[in-house]
Amino acid sequence: MNLILIGFMGSGKSTIGKLLAKQLNCEFVDTDVLIEKKMKIPIKKIFHLYGEYFFRRLERHILINTNPKNPFVLATGGGMPCFKNNIDIMKKKGTVVYLKIPKKHLFKTDNKNRPLFNKAQILLNKRKNCYAKADFTIENDKIKKTLKNIK
Ligand code: S3P
Repeated sequence: MNLILIGFMGSGKSTIGKLLAKQLNCEFVDTDVLIEKKMKIPIKKIFHLYGEYFFRRLERHILINTNPKNPFVLATGGGMPCFKNNIDIMKKKGTVVYLKIPKKHLFKTDNKNRPLFNKAQILLNKRKNCYAKADFTIENDKIKKTLKNIK
């Protein structure tokens, strides 16, 4: 089974994704990392040099072309599911899980490398209908605690 993690910046997609992949003994893939490897510069710089639309097209290209041969856990960028029909593509590739951040934790995330974080509340309002299309919604802090307790 493939798992695709979606959710807002700071919801722990990468941290939880790695823990899940370890538990399930499968491959872990992070689209932000793939993009930085492909472009050889940090995401913040991609936004700065080429703009958001370029980044979204790159994300979509990575999504469409990431097809590991074995089961995988995929952590995605916070805006990826909400661009064009990316969420439908994700649902064809695996089970989509929305890691929801409890409101009280929303602004506590480390934001210095996240170019869009200053618009967090507006973005979350725009994205919540898209995130709701996931197959499952899980509160991120609960699953993190559970996964950390499994030996
Ligand atoms: C973004 C989230 C970031 C990264 C980029 C844009 C977004 O990933 O893809 O800065 O639009 O929400 P994380 O969700 O891993 O922070």
